Amino acid sequence: MRHAPRTLSHVCEVPLPVDQTRSRVDGYDFRAPDSWDQFADVVALAYGGYEAVPEYRKIIGDIFEPKRSLLAHRAGETCATLALYSLDMSVPGGRQPIAGIGYVTVDPTHRRRGLMRDLIRRTLTGLHDRGEEAVAALHTTEPAIYGRFGFGSATRAVRIRIPRSSRELSTRPPAAPTDPPPSVRVLDPARCGAEITRIYEHAIDRRPGMPRRDGTWMRRALLDLPERRGGAGRLLCMLAGADDGEPATGYALYSLTAHWENSYPRYEVHVRELFANDPTAYVNLWRALLDIDLGGTVIADRPVDDAILALLDDPRSAAPVARDQLYTRPVDVARALAGRGYGAEVDLVLAVADPICPWNVGRWRLRTGTYEGECARTSAPADLALTVRELGAVHLGGTSLTQLAAAGRVVEHRAGALRAATRAFHHDPAPFCPTVF
Ligand SMILES: CC(C)(COP(=O)(O)OP(=O)(O)OC[C@H]1O[C@@H](n2cnc3c(N)ncnc32)[C@H](O)[C@@H]1OP(=O)(O)O)[C@@H](O)C(=O)NCCC(=O)NCCS
Repeated sequence: MRHAPRTLSHVCEVPLPVDQTRSRVDGYDFRAPDSWDQFADVVALAYGGYEAVPEYRKIIGDIFEPKRSLLAHRAGETCATLALYSLDMSVPGGRQPIAGIGYVTVDPTHRRRGLMRDLIRRTLTGLHDRGEEAVAALHTTEPAIYGRFGFGSATRAVRIRIPRSSRELSTRPPAAPTDPPPSVRVLDPARCGAEITRIYEHAIDRRPGMPRRDGTWMRRALLDLPERRGGAGRLLCMLAGADDGEPATGYALYSLTAHWENSYPRYEVHVRELFANDPTAYVNLWRALLDIDLGGTVIADRPVDDAILALLDDPRSAAPVARDQLYTRPVDVARALAGRGYGAEVDLVLAVADPICPWNVGRWRLRTGTYEGECARTSAPADLALTVRELGAVHLGGTSLTQLAAAGRVVEHRAGALRAATRAFHHDPAPFCPTVF
């Protein structure tokens, strides 16, 4: 039975100004920059006036794709910036090219007149017109900014703080060998870049949301500038499972911050990254991190379903706190939906609203096999109505359509469609993005 029809604008939660599809700013020119240097001053000003040290600036400049990025200028001065990165990211069922947006900044004296909106709109329109990436993604300094542009919260992390008193693990052999003791080596990350890259590359396809890292992105992931340590010691790397000449199967990047309580050492152990490709390496890495001499609290940002919460005897003590990470949005609905895999077979018509990209507006028929989907425009009646923001939120399989419907952000027009779609879009394990861009 079909529910009473409701209009699309009813579910379009995004506050829409008069017309978001056209420029509302006058007097600015928009063009691709020649190099990172044209971005640097506005970026530094926007983020608090910090000057990037030369080593960091070099890496940011190497990653930068000037031909794909955009700046707004007036009277020869850069007033606003947007960097665009060509990413290859894991999505449910495989990998998909993703347009990564970063360094959206506007000079403080040019704010609140629509420059950010215009940079985003021009970027999405350009991607569409040139038939490039069908999905865009970004990290945001403030979560309230990008929903209006159709970006939905797609991955989450939990910050865990494991106290010294909760080191007990609930593993049994063979996952937790105690004799011989865990085979973990501590090395300078610069000495094991190739092994880290190999382990990371292997880990990508098990979890959506992880971008591939070429040499430059990996150099950035391993960057350890004294100016950015915030009082911690240098970055260290643990490799697990590298016995008898066998390749390592897991690594942890971490640093220690000296801390004393009543004259006892209680150093904070900050885990920047931990990836392991088998349970033994995973358990051994955590065992070693929790057993570090002088160690107090171990702090890490982990996937919401990370095994550490099943590994600790007392997971409550880690007090996990969830936060949003990556925001995604379809640039082209049909290609975006056809570019990922699905967990169940569905045949659905989605009525889609889009505040910025008019080519996405309308009804789309999504037919999925167990692993793949196809999507095309249709005139058939809608089963679900939603905006691109909701499609972005569920794209990596970590946000539930049922949850969004309970918040009034998705409307079900055919009984059963919501449940079926929720199953199809869901992915286990949950997505996680370890790279900020
Ligand atoms: C965030 C920033 C880029 C906004 O630039 P801007 O040119 O002033 O933004 P616009 O004028 O295009 O604003 C577009 C809309 O976003 C809203 N908006 C802008 N900044 C916002 C913020 N920090 N939080 C919530 N909404 C914001 C505006 O109110 C406007 O709303 P509307 O749709 O109701 O009209 C700018 O303030 C900045 O450079 N901040 C520091 C760097 C930063 O945080 N960048 C974001 C990186 S992800």
